[in-house]
Amino acid sequence: MRSIQLEIGALEPLTSEHADEMFHVLSDPAIYPFENKPPESPEWLRTRYAFLEQRCSPEGGEKWLNWVIRLKNGGLAGFTQATVYADGTAQIAYVLHSRHWGKGIARRAVQAMIGELAREFGVRRLVAVLKAANERSLRLLERLDFREADTAMDKRFRDTPDERVMQRQAMLQRENEE
Ligand SMILES: CC(C)(COP(=O)(O)OP(=O)(O)OC[C@H]1O[C@@H](n2cnc3c(N)ncnc32)[C@H](O)[C@@H]1OP(=O)(O)O)[C@@H](O)C(=O)NCCC(=O)NCCS
Repeated sequence: MRSIQLEIGALEPLTSEHADEMFHVLSDPAIYPFENKPPESPEWLRTRYAFLEQRCSPEGGEKWLNWVIRLKNGGLAGFTQATVYADGTAQIAYVLHSRHWGKGIARRAVQAMIGELAREFGVRRLVAVLKAANERSLRLLERLDFREADTAMDKRFRDTPDERVMQRQAMLQRENEE
């Protein structure tokens, strides 16, 4: 994994050294109305990030790719994440502190990650699973040209009835031409 430059800063490969800074970002209660909960402590997060730093599942079948979003002013806004499966599908996720919502930062960061996944990790298809009530996440995905998943992908990735599964090709025609 490598750093990816953005107009607004950079995506840095996540390491356990990001735990203290990310603890503050992820302690924002506004992040969790639909799912998950804040990390218990910086130590807990450090242990989790050390595990993720292996960058692949114990059996080696999945790549785990995590980047933090470093802003030009030096602070961290959040993270982007992809789990890459052997068939070229990547499931993506993203979380920003609410101070950084509504500015197009998530869109730029996720778009940059998608380009990296297609170019460097052989990803051909992207999928995202969200709670149906998470309208901000849905708007972000729609802006990035994700559409409702087909039946097979929905069956493969949806765990509960209150979720939606969205998908798109990793590299769109117009992006190929850019
Ligand atoms: C989901 C999440 C990342 C979306 O963040 P976001 O800031 O709304 O997403 P974007 O980067 O696309 O920003 C879009 C907003 O910025 C505005 N914006 C301002 N300048 C912009 C620019 N230059 N380019 C694009 N959008 C811009 C857009 O108009 C839009 O405003 P709106 O929210 O009023 O529609 C964020 O809400 C989040 O972290 N939520 C908690 C975690 C979560 O739910 N994760 C997803 C789990 S599935």
